[in-house]
Order: sequence, then structure tokens, then C-alpha cells
Amino acid sequence: MPTRTALLRLLCDGRFHSGAELGAALGIGRSAVWKHVRALAGRGIEIHAVRGRGYRLAVPLELLDGPRILAALPPVWRGRLAGLEILQETDSTNRVLLARGEAVPAPCACLAEYQSAGRGRRGRTWVSPYGRNIYLSLLWRFAEAPAALSALGLVAGVAVLRAVTALGLGDAGLKWPNDVLWGGAKLAGVLVELSGEMNGACRAVIGVGLNLAMPRAAAQGIDQPWVDLASAMGRPVSRNACSALLLARLLECLELFQDRGFAPFAGEWHRHDVLRDRPVALFQGGRCLHGTARGVDEQGALIVERDGKRCRYFSGDVSLRLKEGGAVGAAAGSG
Ligand code: BTN
Repeated sequence: MPTRTALLRLLCDGRFHSGAELGAALGIGRSAVWKHVRALAGRGIEIHAVRGRGYRLAVPLELLDGPRILAALPPVWRGRLAGLEILQETDSTNRVLLARGEAVPAPCACLAEYQSAGRGRRGRTWVSPYGRNIYLSLLWRFAEAPAALSALGLVAGVAVLRAVTALGLGDAGLKWPNDVLWGGAKLAGVLVELSGEMNGACRAVIGVGLNLAMPRAAAQGIDQPWVDLASAMGRPVSRNACSALLLARLLECLELFQDRGFAPFAGEWHRHDVLRDRPVALFQGGRCLHGTARGVDEQGALIVERDGKRCRYFSGDVSLRLKEGGAVGAAAGSG
């Protein structure tokens, strides 16, 4: 294990540890400990250094634990998951899996403690501070691209919604195409990246960013209303338990989607659709169009009623805003 990771593991209990104690455990001198502490601070990890007492994390961290996540998966998926990789830091877990090429066995998952260039939709950056939230990508291979492939992101949104609901969060909603909201603020986002293979096969990397305990300082880089699970639920949430739950729901939903398309998810999506029957503004190729959101079709396209006509829009083509005065609330419905 790299020294810096080992140091963090010693500190993650949130208690004070002297430089001498840390140095002895890591086999390095006290000044080397100090250098590593500074490097961790450079990753946004707040560490208190107090003369005579040593170092401690400002907030205890629960680091990701691969064996623990695997053990919490349903046995059927533990057997079928071809790989689970935990990275200390990377630019983007989606990029890591996309770069793997066609030979890599699927499904496989990659989680990171920290992303230096987390990718969001529409070229945005996904703010990914160290050890606080969940950054998960899942590589899935479709032997034949499903007809409703464009609905894959919506299905992933349903999987996230099921995971947070199973943790005990009520009233989470879905905002087309694949945001998960709570109380009108963004709790999680999904980024699907596809790559075609030979013979009509297709590889999909489904990336999920789920806010668990976003530090205020890191959140300054977020340009839209956001919320994290710990605040929404009023209690801390285990990153490992949540990662396992999220991964299990994603795997289950993807298998069902592969077999039966979007149809088995449509009812649930509609029940949690925060935009349904709300006035929206769509931005398409420099134009702004106004209408009323009327749910989604079997391809995952958004239906918008404009001048009495129902038009369909795909997520790659448009960006969407709720029109002024129409705050997005949580959706009704529970399941
Ligand atoms: C969005 O903009 O709403 C989508 C955000 C998706 C972020 C996740 S974090 C894990 C995975 N790796 C990335 O670089 N992006 C996705």
C-alpha cells in the first residue's frame, strides 16, 4: 500500500496521532510524515496539526473497502461481477473503464476515493473531494445494443433512486434525463458513455456520482443547487454499505433493461418524475423552446407539449431548465 494511503488509514479514525507514532508505523521519519500530511491537504483533506498532540483528520473518514463491498453484494452478483477496483485517486473512473478496451471482462466496476477531473454531463466537471462521496463506474457489455439504448441513463437513475430509498431516504425524485433530486436539489448524477464493438455489440460505462457528505469548501465549485445524503437523512451514511447497495441495484436494473428494455421501469420513472406537467425551457442548438413536460416515452425521450403538439427530445440534443417560478420539488409516490 502506498505510504500516503497507509497514513490516511491510520488517521481515518479522527483521533490524534503523534508524528513519532505515525512515522514508526510507516517506517519513515517525522518530516516525511509532515510532507505526506501536506500532500493530503492538497487533495482537500483537512488535517489538524497540534503541537504536542500530533495530527488528526478534521472529520473521520470511512475509506472504501473492496472486500467489504463485495461481501455486501447479493451472492449471485458477487459471483458474476468480473472485477471490482478501488482506486485511491484517478482523473475519472469513467475514463479508466472506457480505456480498458474490448478485452476486459464485464460487468466490472471501479470506485475511486478522489477524482481530479470527474466528468459530468454536457462537459461539466463533477466535484469529487477525497473520501466523502461515491464515484462509481460500471462497465456493462451488451451482446446486441438494445433498441431502447437511449433510455439507459434513465434506468441508471432508477437504480440510484432505489438504492437511496433502500437506505431510508423518502421523497427522492428523478429529473430527466438522469438526475436524482431531493428537496429540489441534486443528490446524484449519471453519465453514460458508450462505445461500439464488432457485430453490433456495445460497451456502456455507467458513471454515478452520489453526494454523501460533501464538504462545504469543495461545494463552492458546484454551480447548481445540491444536497448530500447525510444532510437529507439527518445522519451519516456508510460509504461502503451505500456503494454495495448502489452497485447491486445498478447490476439488477441493467440486467432487466438488457432483457426487457425500458418498459419495466416506466411506471416507477413516471411516479418520481419531478418535471411532469411542469413548464420547461429547452435549449437546442442556440434556440430556446418553451413547453410543458409530459413524461418520457419508451425510448427515454422527453415528451414536451408545445402549441398543442407533443414533441420528443433526446438527452444528447437538448439541455433543460424548469421555467422561472417553478421550483423543482420532490416527486410524489414511494416506490
Ligand atoms: C452529471 O453531470 O450529472 C453526471 C455526473 C457523473 C459523475 C460520475 S462520478 C463517477 C463517474 N466518473 C466520472 O468521471 N463521472 C462519473
